[in-house]
Order: sequence, then structure tokens, then C-alpha cells
Amino acid sequence: MKILVIGGGGREHAIIKKLLENKKVEHIWALPGNGGISKDAECVNIGAKDIDAIVEFAKLNKPDFAVVAPDDPLVLGAVDRLEEVGVKCFGPSALAAEIEGSKIFSKNLMKKYNIPTAEYETFDNLEKALDYVKDKEMPIVIKADGLALGKGVIIAQNLEEANKALVMMMSEGAFGKSGSRVVIEEFLTGPEVSVLSFTDGNVVVPMVSSMDHKRALDGDKGLNTGGMGTIAPNPYYTLDVAKECMEKIFLPTINAMKMEGRTFKGCLYFGLMLTPKGPKVIEYNCRFGDPETQVVLPLMESDLLDTMIAVRDEKLSEMEVKFSKGAACCVVHASKGYPEKYDSGFEITEEDMGDAFVYYAGAKLDGGKILTSGGRVLGVVAKGDNLKCAIDKAYKASEKVHFENAFYRKDIGKKALEA
Ligand code: AMP
Ligand code: GLY
Repeated sequence: MKILVIGGGGREHAIIKKLLENKKVEHIWALPGNGGISKDAECVNIGAKDIDAIVEFAKLNKPDFAVVAPDDPLVLGAVDRLEEVGVKCFGPSALAAEIEGSKIFSKNLMKKYNIPTAEYETFDNLEKALDYVKDKEMPIVIKADGLALGKGVIIAQNLEEANKALVMMMSEGAFGKSGSRVVIEEFLTGPEVSVLSFTDGNVVVPMVSSMDHKRALDGDKGLNTGGMGTIAPNPYYTLDVAKECMEKIFLPTINAMKMEGRTFKGCLYFGLMLTPKGPKVIEYNCRFGDPETQVVLPLMESDLLDTMIAVRDEKLSEMEVKFSKGAACCVVHASKGYPEKYDSGFEITEEDMGDAFVYYAGAKLDGGKILTSGGRVLGVVAKGDNLKCAIDKAYKASEKVHFENAFYRKDIGKKALEA
């Protein structure tokens, strides 16, 4: 089979590596892929948001199956457009991707179907929003409605910060159109858990749970990033919690989407907070998480392509999707300065790292060398029988990749080990 994978980050590298384990896979095109991915797939210089060019490429090359991984093309309808020209796809329709594309949509969905989430109000008028936060308890959480590269959430510690965030989003256009409407919600506390799931709209199969580390620096300090590292499984996500999430969150969500005429097929990501009042949804993503995928897929024992095809064909109930009992850790190596300004173009070299491995993200190929080209450059991943073993191996292997101006957090998984 010939497979098309849309996207070009560490998540896509992990997906491609897993797909290649299936003997039926003869060729993978990555659009656009990256310099590190080019060892495993044919990278084609078409951007993930260029839906017209993606469709033209598919018409010409006739892939047997396509995986649309990032949020933007999903929200822009890449799956609908590819299916229209006869390409079978893994991923939700644009209508279903709205669950991530609009926070107002997802909050209203949760309210309507009684799915536990933070109390909230939505606003498209700055004056009204400013008036609302005036006598609210702090901290308070302000979220841009639309996609904002994972930066559209501001936790305001006091009224001044709240006002500043609202003005920045709603009148200064910090996130473009994404921020012209906002959700203002109650600040929740508790451990965070990411649960990625396969769903064909009828059944939902959670994957192994994971924990992201979003802040740039050790001790959860510094700016929010796209994710500096992950571990799986997440020790806070006990069997009891999993059962409660299935009953109160996962099944109600896929049923709600179906009721709304937006049947969700693909990977539905539940960003959860385990609050003193039970698990609540912090966010939905309409796709695999990055860098969660980098620890979840290596623990998957079942075949990814077969599972994805079963999702597409609404036959997921016929599949057994298994994960190993072990653990995994991903340490993201970033360019110094990320998530703000950073330099790139530095050569990346790898020494032998045993059974640990690298998924590339911000990397480009240049005359046979792999150079840094982004903020999050790569993730070093290791598996182990338990979390401690996986973390130790990932850090040991982290000493075996080199590029100038690199930095990585030294405490990925520390909180999980203490749990
Ligand atoms: P998001 O971009 O929606 O994943 O939000 C980024 C981060 O903000 C989350 O991972 C949480 O740590 C935090 N966050 C979002 N909503 C809330 C909330 N209602 N209460 C506390 N923290 C939140
Ligand atoms: N790691 C969080 C996300 O993919 O949105």
C-alpha cells in the first residue's frame, strides 16, 4: 500500500515509523515531512495547510490511504476533500474537527450534554468581557476561540492581567480572527492527563494515558510551549479514573458529536484535569497530540495501519487494540530561545543510542546533513519496563545527540515518579 501522511513534526515521524511496521506498506509520502523524516519517507514540499495542492498531489499519485495529522488541515476540511476524490482517510471531517477548531463550540457541546468541564462564559464583545471579569475570583482562564498554535490560553493571576489578555486578544488581534471571540472560564486544579483515543464514531478505544510538560523550563517554569516532553502511562490515571472518564466523558462525547450530526472518526484527544470534584475536560483536540504520540505509539502492540483503516471503515469494534504494559519517555530537544526567538541551521549528529531512538521535528536536510530548522528540533524516546527505567534511558540517550544551542528539560517525568 502507498500511504500519504500530512504534516511534518515529531508526531508525524512517530506515526510514519509505526505505519512502516506493517508489511503491506510499500511507500509513504510525507507532506511536507522534514529532514529527519526523509530517512523513512519521501518528503514532498507541500505545506500541510495547502489543501488544494494536497488534493492535486493525491489525484496524481493515488495513495491507498491518507493520514491527516495536524489540526489546521483537519479544520480546513482536508479529509472531506481527499475523500471526495476517492482517497480513504484517517481523520475527522471539518464538521467534526470543530471540536478543536472552536473552543466555544466544544464548551457549548459539553454544557448541552452534561460533560464535566470548567464553568465558563463566551464573549465576542470586549466591553462585556471586561465587565464580566471585574468581580470574578482570580486566577481566571482566558481562551481564544480558534486555533492559536497552542498559545491561545492565558491564565490571568489578577484583574490587571485579565484585562490585558482580553484587550490583546479581542482588540489588538494577537491571535488574528481566532481571538476575536473568547471563552472565559473557571481556574481548575489537579493533575493533568492526556488521553488519546481511536474512535469510529460508534466505539471509543482509549490509548495508553500520557503526561505532557508544557512549560519551557524545569519545575514547570518559563513560557508555555508546544510540549517539552512526555511520559506514558500517566500514574494519576488509575483504573478507577479511567472507568469514570469512559462513562462520564469519552462515550458521552462521541455520542454527543453523533447527535449533532458531526460523527467523529479519527483520533480524539482528551485533555483532562483530575480535579477534587472528579475528572474534567480542559480541551479536546481533533488529532494525535504532539509530543504525546511520541510515547503512546511506541507502546502500541497492535498494528496502527489496520486500526486506522478500521476507524475509517467504522469497524473499530471488530479490532483488538493492545498496548504494552511498559512505559515510555520522550525528552524534547529544543533550540535555545524557544518558544521565543532562536537561531537555526546547526548540524545535528547522533551517536549510537542503543534501543532508544529519535523522532525529528524542526530539522531539514541540507547536502546530506541534517540541520536544525525549528524551535522543537527532535524528541529522544526510550521505552522501559517501568517509568523510571524509561526516563533514565531517555536521558542517557539524550547525551548522544548533539547540535549547537540545544537545550532540554532535565525533569521530564519527575512529577510522575513522585506521584
Ligand atoms: P490548552 O491550550 O487548552 O491545552 O491549555 C493550555 C494549558 O492551560 C493546559 O494544559 C492547562 O495546564 C492550562 N489550563 C487550561 N484551562 C485551564 C483551566 N480551566 N484551569 C486551569 N488550567 C487550565
Ligand atoms: N501536546 C498537546 C497538544 O498536542 O496539543
